[in-house]
Amino acid sequence: MVASAYTTSAKVLVLGAAGQVGHALVELLEKSPGIEPIGFTRRQMDITSADAVRQQLEKHLPDYVVNCAGFNRVDAAERQVDEAFAVNRDGPANLATACAALSIPLLHLSSDYVFDGHYASGYSEGDDPAPLGTYGRSKWEGEEKVRQLQPQHLILRVSWIFSARGHNFLLRMLEQARQEKEIEAADDRRGCPTSADDVARVILAILRQLTCGIDVWGTYHYCGAEITTRYGFSEAILAAVRQYEELEVETLKAVSTADLHPLAERPASSVLKCRKLLSTFGIRQRPWRSELQRVIREIYGES
Ligand SMILES: NC(=O)c1ccc[n+]([C@@H]2O[C@H](COP(=O)([O-])OP(=O)(O)OC[C@H]3O[C@@H](n4cnc5c(N)ncnc54)[C@H](OP(=O)(O)O)[C@@H]3O)[C@@H](O)[C@H]2O)c1
Repeated sequence: MVASAYTTSAKVLVLGAAGQVGHALVELLEKSPGIEPIGFTRRQMDITSADAVRQQLEKHLPDYVVNCAGFNRVDAAERQVDEAFAVNRDGPANLATACAALSIPLLHLSSDYVFDGHYASGYSEGDDPAPLGTYGRSKWEGEEKVRQLQPQHLILRVSWIFSARGHNFLLRMLEQARQEKEIEAADDRRGCPTSADDVARVILAILRQLTCGIDVWGTYHYCGAEITTRYGFSEAILAAVRQYEELEVETLKAVSTADLHPLAERPASSVLKCRKLLSTFGIRQRPWRSELQRVIREIYGES
């Protein structure tokens, strides 16, 4: 039951509505004519419960389901393996099963962490996944469940999400910079920061085209334009924040990822090639630097 361009509005059920992307998406959809969003937080619908998922989908009968829910704490996933797999693999499996039974297309968010990060120039959708840790494995197995259980799916892999809310690198950096004289950042991890609002914009653009009934199921990549390192992103964050606030930090020190002793191994390159999204949907990458300025303005109450 894909809504045609002529129906009054497409009902879009969003999971993980309190998270970075979920929140941005519900906010954007609320302002979008012809779309009626229904946001569910974890408390309102736990995707690890097959019964809850089926009952809610049967009750609301949305035109589309967008899964922004996830267990995204990469280090914690090494200790909470069962929970990570329950949310990142079994949750998407429950959604895909219920969506398939009701013929509802499923849009599912995944991650650059499905790759091992050895390709410095970046990853295309067809490259072989080789996750390094529990988080990446659980996201990859979640993708596979979606592919197996609901052919009408669209998997969107994204990377390095930041926003003015929730848990992310930008807000952690800001917290540290207010308290410490010296901060270390890895200069051997490459990637493309991506704002949650930008991901929401991309999902809306995809939904708009799906409502025309086009058949473009499959896996896609999206990230902000311009490759940087964690160090380069940190420099940009501190420069942007210093327009608004004096910070305690005096030195930003470039280190290797190994110097930071993370519990989970991380891909050295998180760069995602986004050509397929451009050629299929005409969606271009937005520069993360302008998004960063916008998010910083939002943090300081200017937008
Ligand atoms: N953040 C990144 O840098 C990044 C990078 C690549 C890919 N991604 C992917 O992008 C998607 C969105 O990421 P995000 O940064 O917006 O995530 P987020 O801010 O961590 O939000 C995830 C949301 O999912 C909810 N959730 C957790 N377990 C759930 C369950 N069992 N049932 C229902 N909801 C549950 C969380 O609720 P609680 O807060 O109550 O736990 C949280 O509100 C995820 O699929 C993630 O894997 C993120």
